[in-house]
Amino acid sequence: MCIGPNRDLKSSRWERQARELNKRVEISAPGKLMLFGEHAVIYNRPCIVTAVDQRMRVAAELTETKFVRLEAPDVGVKEYTELIGTEANSGLPKGARFTATAVRNFYHHYGIGSGVTIRTKSEFSSEFGFGSSSAVTTAVLKALSELFGVEISNKELFELSYKTVRDVQGVGSGFDLAAAIWGGTIYFRSGESEISPLEIDELPLTVGYTGIKADTPTLVRRVADFHLKHEDLANRIFDMMSDIVEQARDALTDLSVENLGELMNINQGLLDSLGVSSQELSQLVFAARHAGATGAKLSGAGGGDCMIALSLDQHRELVEQSIERIGGKVLKIRTGALGVHREQNSDTW
Ligand code: PMV
Repeated sequence: MCIGPNRDLKSSRWERQARELNKRVEISAPGKLMLFGEHAVIYNRPCIVTAVDQRMRVAAELTETKFVRLEAPDVGVKEYTELIGTEANSGLPKGARFTATAVRNFYHHYGIGSGVTIRTKSEFSSEFGFGSSSAVTTAVLKALSELFGVEISNKELFELSYKTVRDVQGVGSGFDLAAAIWGGTIYFRSGESEISPLEIDELPLTVGYTGIKADTPTLVRRVADFHLKHEDLANRIFDMMSDIVEQARDALTDLSVENLGELMNINQGLLDSLGVSSQELSQLVFAARHAGATGAKLSGAGGGDCMIALSLDQHRELVEQSIERIGGKVLKIRTGALGVHREQNSDTW
């Protein structure tokens, strides 16, 4: 269906519903932390990811215009407007491109042409690599579905979110979107889209930020080069990572901190062999282990961003101090946060 500025705005069932149901909705979606299986997940192996209690908030409001209007102060967008049906987002910061593309994809998919204003507000800095892009994409799509009264399943929300992320950055397994949508801690496999929530308690994790912003697509390409050059070795590394994920799934449900820690250490060694760890990450990982962490590894694409350490309560403080002593920043987060959901409308925007 062609959606353009000349389209009869009153024609769509969804738009009539939006006028009747909700003029404004607020949604929040959580960030994420990869626990096991990063990079291998791109090659159709499973991974385990947990949603964290730092959220992206989105407010969507219907307007009597022919424009999509965005306000995303966290990524430096005070105000951006786009004529519905056009694709003029060159110059938009990456963070806001996810929002603009999500709106376009939603409108195209459901044949909508109403004016809308979207405001985004982040509880976390995008520099920490907690998945602000996936959280904002999911929250914007969920906000539009609520605004227009479109019933959308988690699976459909995932598909539309995944298309949006692929349109903007080209690569990605979608693990972060699964965390933003389902919340909790999830066993995820991309190719077959297996998403199984794990029934577990909060994890005793410490997160250390290296102070270095990493670019996920660059690291994904680095592993693709490695895979091209050493295909057999790379596949065997991915298979071992897959075994680690399966064992970690059991260790997580048994809450076996010792086994989980060992699996984290093995996973870190394999990530190192793919060439995605860094001096800064390794330093934080070893500092945590020396301070008593049962296990420590990088989390996510590597090259910088964050590492995670698992420790029993009695070691936790020392682990945190050791990470800070060598220049890392300890980020206070809680695991297993709620997935995307509607919030009470507030006037604080
Ligand atoms: O850098 P992050 O936290 O977005 O994690 C990337 C994880 C990868 O497996 C390298 C990429 C992906 O999309 O699965």
